[in-house]
This record gives sequence, C-alpha cells and structure tokens, in this order.
Amino acid sequence: MERIPFFDGRAQALRLEGEVLSAWAGIWRSGQYTSGEHVEQFEAAFAAYCRARHCVACHSGTAALHLALAALDIGPGDEVIVPAMSFVATVWGVLYTGARPVLAEIDPIRRTLDPQDVARRITPRSRAIVAVHLYGQPAEMAPLWELARQHGLAVIEDAAQAHGACYQGRPVGSLGQAACFSFYPSKNLGGCGEGGALVTDDAELAARARALRNHGQRARYVHETLGYNYRLSELQAAVLEVKLRYLEEWNACRRRLHREYLEGLSGVKGVWLPMPAADSTIAPHLLVVESIWRDALRQGLAARGIGTGLHYPLPMHLQPALAHLGYQQGDFPYAERLAARCLSLPLFPELSPHAVREVCGVVRELLLGFQSGSVGWRSSAAARSATDSATRSGA
Ligand SMILES: Cc1ncc(COP(=O)(O)O)c(C=O)c1O
Repeated sequence: MERIPFFDGRAQALRLEGEVLSAWAGIWRSGQYTSGEHVEQFEAAFAAYCRARHCVACHSGTAALHLALAALDIGPGDEVIVPAMSFVATVWGVLYTGARPVLAEIDPIRRTLDPQDVARRITPRSRAIVAVHLYGQPAEMAPLWELARQHGLAVIEDAAQAHGACYQGRPVGSLGQAACFSFYPSKNLGGCGEGGALVTDDAELAARARALRNHGQRARYVHETLGYNYRLSELQAAVLEVKLRYLEEWNACRRRLHREYLEGLSGVKGVWLPMPAADSTIAPHLLVVESIWRDALRQGLAARGIGTGLHYPLPMHLQPALAHLGYQQGDFPYAERLAARCLSLPLFPELSPHAVREVCGVVRELLLGFQSGSVGWRSSAAARSATDSATRSGA
C-alpha cells in the first residue's frame, strides 16, 4: 500500500457523495438516462466557464477531438499538425477522420508545440493545428494564431489536461475554433467514468458536432451523414455539474501544491522543474519533473511508498501504432528527451502540503545518493541547445 499515492479520488468522492447521490436518485426515478436535462445544464455551465458560446458534451475527450475535426470537414487528403509529445488520443482524433497527423516538435521548457517547428511543417494540405495544453500549461497560442491566419488553418485546443487554465487572461476553451476536454476520472474536472466535451463559439460547428454525436441526425431518424454514438449519460453529466462548482477551488489547491514542489525542490541538482510560462495561469494536472535518474528515482520513491507516473514514456513518433507515419528515432529530440526523463510526482487537490514536502525530501535525498559527486541536470539554457545524444545514450 502506498503511503503517498500518485492519485487518490476517494476524499473527493466522500465529500460530494450527498450531492451526487441525490442528483442520481432524481435521474433514476425520471427514467431519462441519456441526452436529458443534466446534459443540457452541464453544457450551459461548462460553456460559460470556458467563456465559449456552445458546449457539446460527449462520451470522452477522444470523441471530442474526433467530433471537432469531423465537424470542420477534415478528412482523407488533409494534414493536421499535432505535437510529438501528448497522450496518443490527440492523434487518434486525426486518424479517425482519415486525415494524416503531421507531428511537430515541442518547446523543451514549455513542453507544448514549438511554433517555429509548426511553421516548418505546414504544407498546402495542412488544414488544422491541434495545440495540446500539456500537463496544465497552455500552449503558446499567439504565434500559432498568426500561422493559422497566414495559412488559413483551424486551431483546435486539446485541453484534456488544462480545465481552468488561462492564456493571456483568456480561459482555455476560448482560444481556437474549438476546444476538446476529457472528463476521465483523474482529470482536473473528472467524472466517475468516461466523459468529454467540445466547446466553441461557432454555432454551425457546434450544430454539426451535435448531429455527429447523435448518429448524424439533426431531426429524429433523419441521418444526414455518417454519425457516431458519442452521447454523454445523464449520470455522468450530473456528477460533472456538481464537480464543476468546485473546480476553481481544486485548481487553486493544485497551484499551491505546484508552488510547494517548486520551493521544495528548488536548488536540488539532478532534477529539472516545470516553471509556469509568464503568459499563463496554469491549471496543474500533472507535476512532471525531468531527471536523467528518472528510473532510479521512480524505484527509490516506490520503495518509500510514494506513487509516481510516466507521462509519457514513448513520444508519438515512436508508438508502434503510428509506425506507418514513417518517423524515426531522433526526429523529435526534445520530445524523446522528455519521454526518457519525465517523472510525474503525486498531485491532486486533497494531497497535503506536508506530503509534498515529504516527497521533495525523498527526491532530494535519493538524488544526492545517485550523484555522489557527478554533474546533474543542465541549466535551462543548455537544455535548449542540447541534442538528443542524452536520450540516445539512455539518460
Ligand atoms: C492530452 C489528452 N488528449 C486527449 C485525451 C483523451 O481523453 P479521453 O481519455 O477522455 O478519451 C487525454 C486523456 O487522457 C489527454 O490527456
């Protein structure tokens, strides 16, 4: 049994039990289990939260990505630019439409799309850029907007890991033609099962996504296009309605714990810390540090009863399922380096600052032991100019 788990949703479940069970009792008695008033109420509340006009709730973040791209009529022959480091679902959304995902490098500090690399990968077939707000840090949107304007591309946000984050004072969800959220249980806003949503200001895009979500029908039993069953259940919508009311409070806790980690590990050699970009208010989803001693650190933490995660140990271009895209090892050095060095430390709103200090203490102690006089992590400036040699040598 872990003393400090990587994630634990039980305290949240206990706290909200009364509210959720009373909403569920109403749904149970109503007999309306899908596409009912709770889905509509949640859609209205979540659109308002994102400062967007429309929200189309659906059964997962992956479905939301597919809906966004399909509603934009993206399909075979088109290219969509996505970061080389993200959860694989970012690419699934593109592949489901028949379009080709074109990978782009990440900025090694921000760990989101590098706009300069995006610029290099635009072709006459490019139709959209999917900007992933990885780990709760919004992507650098301004240069992406400019590229999109110059080349007539859509910008889609993959905000599955960033509910409540802001870029230049604007909430994620309002930064592109459409934004896609996941409500997987461990997300900043998580249901008790699968869930997702697309938000947009574009009424026609929302209407198309709504029809696609529901078997391609706008009028009942009139199926205008190939459709999907991507509907969200009333039970999930009710949980999300309740939890949305606490999201700001939980994000504030996550930010506090993030700061606690930065303080607790500041000056520690051998670990690189994620600093929030100055243009953003982050909504920390994962606390991902980087270290050349990642695997040993992970084992050492596990031996002391501390849970960790890896997000993600393989970048997109090295995923077996994406081999047909033709990328090679070495194509995206920063994504590869992040994959080789990333370590996610425990982070969830109910985690105590005391537990974070304890994790930091163990990390510090383990690193001191590993280093025994050798040189640790390079400075940020050096990291920027680093090649993939460290990744290749298995660091
Ligand atoms: C960045 C990112 N995109 C998309 C998804 C897919 O969401 P879901 O699991 O709800 O399908 C996730 C979920 O982990 C994610 O982290």
